[in-house]
Amino acid sequence: MERGGLLLYILLVLSTFFSYIFLNKNKIKPRKRAKLPPGSMGWPYIGETLQLYSQDPNIFFTTKQQRYGEIFKSHILGCPCVMLASPEAARFVLVTHAHLFKPTYPKSKEQIIGPSALFFHEGDYHTKIRKLVQGSLSLEVLRNLVPDIETIAISALESWAGGHIINTFHEMKEFSFDVGILAIFGHLDTYYKEALKKNYCMVDKGYNSFPNTIPGTLYNKAVLARKRLSQLVSEIICDRREKRLDKKDLLGCLMQYKDEKGQILTDNQIADNIIGVLFAAQDTTASALTWILKFLHDNSKLLEAVKAEQKVIYESNEDGSKSLTWSQTRSMILTHRAILESLRMSSIISFTFREAVADVEYKGYLIPKGWKVMPLFRNIHHNAEFFSDPDKFDPLRFEVAPKPNTFMPFGNGVHACPGNELAKLEMLILIHHLVTNFRWEVVGSQNGIQYSPFPVPQNGLPARFWNQTVSNQRQQECA
Ligand code: HEM
Repeated sequence: MERGGLLLYILLVLSTFFSYIFLNKNKIKPRKRAKLPPGSMGWPYIGETLQLYSQDPNIFFTTKQQRYGEIFKSHILGCPCVMLASPEAARFVLVTHAHLFKPTYPKSKEQIIGPSALFFHEGDYHTKIRKLVQGSLSLEVLRNLVPDIETIAISALESWAGGHIINTFHEMKEFSFDVGILAIFGHLDTYYKEALKKNYCMVDKGYNSFPNTIPGTLYNKAVLARKRLSQLVSEIICDRREKRLDKKDLLGCLMQYKDEKGQILTDNQIADNIIGVLFAAQDTTASALTWILKFLHDNSKLLEAVKAEQKVIYESNEDGSKSLTWSQTRSMILTHRAILESLRMSSIISFTFREAVADVEYKGYLIPKGWKVMPLFRNIHHNAEFFSDPDKFDPLRFEVAPKPNTFMPFGNGVHACPGNELAKLEMLILIHHLVTNFRWEVVGSQNGIQYSPFPVPQNGLPARFWNQTVSNQRQQECA
C-alpha cells in the first residue's frame, strides 16, 4: 500500500474506533455485572403504593434514603422505579443524560391537559415550543408586566381585607390564575376571562379524580370543560386574526410561529400549550405563596425585617401613590431570600418523574429500560450536607449561593421551569403590598401539611386580613 493510502487507512480505523467508544459512552450501556439498586419492591402488583400514600410521603422517602442510601428502587402506582436523592444523580437524569430519560405522565392526565402541551414532549417539538414559552416569559417581557401584576395583587388583597376568614391557598390560586391569564393573553375581555376561569376550575377539580367516562363524575365533567376551553381559545384566536392583532404575549408568540417550511401551529396545539402553562403556573405559585405567608407569620423578626425593606421602597414611591418599578422589584434582597428559603423548606415539587428509554448504568447500578426514575428534590433540599440545620427556616443561608445542583425548586435541565422569573416577580409584588398595607392573622393551629397534590399548610391556611391604611384612617377620624 502507498504511504498516503496507508495513512488514510489508519485514520479511518482510528476514527471508527473512537466513534465507537464515544457513541457507547453516550449510550451508557450497562455492563453485564451492573445490578439493580438496593430497596424493596413491596407487594406483588401494589408494590409500596400503600406505604407511600398512608403516611407523609416525605417520611417514606427520607426513611428509604436513610436505609439504602442515595439511590434505591421501589414500586409505586403500578410501576417499578429508581429514586435518586443526590445532586449528581439528579443532574445525570435531568441534564447530562436527559436524552436517556423521557418525561412520563399518566395517559388520563395527558388527555385532560392536552397531548400537545410541551411538558409531555422531547426533541424538536419540545425545543420549538419551549423557545416560544421562554420568549413570552423573558425578563424583557416581564418588566412591562409589573404595573398590571400590581393591579391584580392590590385588588386581590383588598378583596380579602375586612377581617373575615379566607382560605389563603384558594385565594392565592385566584391570584396566580389571573397573573397566568395576563402572561398568556395580555389584557383579555372580561367575558373570556370569566368563561376561562369557570371551565378551568372544573378541569382542576377533575384532574386528580378517578378517570372514567360516566356522565356526572368529576373526571367526565373535567373532560367536557376541557373541550369548552379549547373552543374558547379558538374563538380568541379567531378574534385576534380578524383584528390583525400582533401581540407579544404567549398566545401571540404561539400564533406567529412558522417553521422553516412555513408550517404554523394548529389551534389544538396552541390550546394544549396554553392550558398546560396555566396548569403549570397556578397551583405551584399559589402553594409557594401560601407557605411564604405562613413562614412570615411564624417568624416575627423576619417579618419586621421584610416590612422594613419594603417600607423604604413604599416611601420612595410617595407612600404607594407611584407604581412599583422593575428595578425596585430587583432590589428586594431580603424578601427574595425569604422566597428562596420558603421554596427550599416547602419543596412544592418534591420530586419529578422520567422514564428510562434504554438500560442505563449509573454508579454501577442498572436502571432498566421502561422503569420510572425519580429525582427527589425535597431530599436534596433537606440534606444537612448541603443546607445546615435543614429544618430551620433561615433566609440568610441564601447570602451565599447554594452549591451547584443542590437547589432545584424549579427543576433542572431541558424541562426546567420557564416560568420561574414570573413566579418570583408575582410573589415579590404581592408581598410588597401585603406587608406595607395589610396585616394578617392565621386562624387555628397550623402545623399540619396537606397534599393537593402539592404540599400546602393544613386546610389551605385559613387567615384574616385587614387593610392597615383604612384602619389607621378610621382611628384618626375617631380621635
Ligand atoms: C413557585 C412556582 C413554580 C414552581 C415551584 C415551578 C416548578 C417547576 C418545576 C420543578 C418544573 C420542572 C418539572 C420537571 O422537570 O418535570 C416546572 C416546569 C414547568 N413550569 Fe413551572 N413552576 C412554578 C411556576 C410556573 C409558572 C408561573 C409558569 C408559567 C407561567 C410555569 C410553567 C412551567 C412549564 C411550562 C413547565 C414545563 C417546562 C418543560 O417541560 O419544558 N411554572 N416548573
